[in-house]
Formats: sequence, C-alpha cells, structure tokens
Amino acid sequence: MTPGIRPFIAGNWKMNGTWRGSIALADAVREAAPSIYADLLVCPPFLHVHSVAQRLLGCRVAVGGQDCHAQPAGAHTGDIGAPMLRDAGATHVILGHSERRANHAESSDIVLAKCRAALAAGLLPIICVGETRAERDAGAAQAVVAEQLTESLPLGFVTAGGIIAYEPVWAIGTGLSATEDDVAAMHAMIRHRLVDAYGPAARTTRLLYGGSVKPANAAALLALPEVDGALVGGASLVAADFLAIARAVAAE
Ligand code: 13P
Repeated sequence: MTPGIRPFIAGNWKMNGTWRGSIALADAVREAAPSIYADLLVCPPFLHVHSVAQRLLGCRVAVGGQDCHAQPAGAHTGDIGAPMLRDAGATHVILGHSERRANHAESSDIVLAKCRAALAAGLLPIICVGETRAERDAGAAQAVVAEQLTESLPLGFVTAGGIIAYEPVWAIGTGLSATEDDVAAMHAMIRHRLVDAYGPAARTTRLLYGGSVKPANAAALLALPEVDGALVGGASLVAADFLAIARAVAAE
C-alpha cells in the first residue's frame, strides 16, 4: 500500500448476473461494508447499474460502469453515455479494459476520448493498462504500459482523482497472477511516470492491480508498495470471496 492512500477494492462483474443475482450480491456487500476498512466499488453490467445503485444508496459502497461512449448522447445504437451512467447513480467508470481494447478494437485514443467524457460528466475513471503475454516475453511490458499511460490519460486526470488499474492481459481470468516482483516493478514505474507527468499530486493517485486476484493471494499483492487496491473480476461474483479480498487489506 502507499502510505496516506485509502485502499480501494473494486469488483468488475463483467457480463454476468441476473437482476436478482446482482441485487443479492449488492446486498451482501452492503451488509459487510461497515466492517471493512477499504473503500469498495462494484461495477455491474449497464442494465443493473441503476438497481444496484438504488440498493446501495446511503452506504459506503460505490457503483461504477464498465465503459462509456466518448460522446455524451446521440445516435450511437447500443452505447451508453457518461451522463447516463451518472444519472443512474454511478460515480466511477472502468475504461480501456483489455477485453474492450481487444474485443472492440479500442485504441488508447478512444480510451482518452472516453476518459475526457467521463470526467466531464463527473465520473471518476479507472483506466486499465497492461501487456499481453507476448509483449512480456519480448521484454516490452514496461514500454507497452508506459505508452498506454501516455496515450490514454487526459490533462486533469490526476487532480480529478482518476484511478489506474494495472491488469496484465495474460493474468485475467487465467488463475495466473503476476509475480509479486513483477507487480511491484510495474507499479513503481507507473507511479514514477505519473509523478513525472503530473507532479506531486500523482503521489496519491490510486494504483490498483487486477488479474486473478483471489482470497489466497490478496494479502500478499495488497501489501506490495504502490499497490493501493485491486480490480477483481471472477472472484467479485462470489460475495464471500470479494469480501475476503477486501478484508485482506491491512488497516493503517
Ligand atoms: P479476473 O479477476 O477474473 O482475473 O479478472 C480481472 C479483471 O479483468 C478485472 O477487471
């Protein structure tokens, strides 16, 4: 953890869950939240954002979207604008997830435009960066992530409280999390570049790790320097696992 930064545990539910299941998961997180030190966020599919946000009203668990369009509104069939997410009760939005970069051909330029739209709508962006296995094997992991950072973050990102999630693509949903040394080295590089580009304000930008975070590896990953929380996929769909990960954060 970084001293002075409140830990942050976010669940990315991806394209999972019925309405009823999402409400049940939200209820379980809500019930446990008062006994958890970390700040909590859940990111349901768009369809359930409003219901989950209603269910979590008045408690410390925030709600986020998993993407937004770069335009606030208009003729974009099937898309969701950042103001709509805000209106539905979301406070955060995940952008540039590798599944969107890969499945929807989202370049860092597009992520940048979406990030600007999110900030304009009053949403806190969580920008995902991370290398593929081939890029890591070629020794290019740090260069790839550095380039994604440079190209995806707009001016004002840090002062607005934007969040970065380092998610190595090969660690997502595979059960293979990055080694503690690799995570620590990447987070140190990210912090260094952010402070270089944005000044001392970036010392408190939250840097999350994502990729096969589970109750069994959470404590070790979350204890690493410059790891201020986690972006959890599969394990966030099981309330007991998500809460066990959140409880693995040591209180300051
Ligand atoms: P898993 O935790 O399922 O590996 O997913 C991580 C992720 O993609 C979170 O955004």
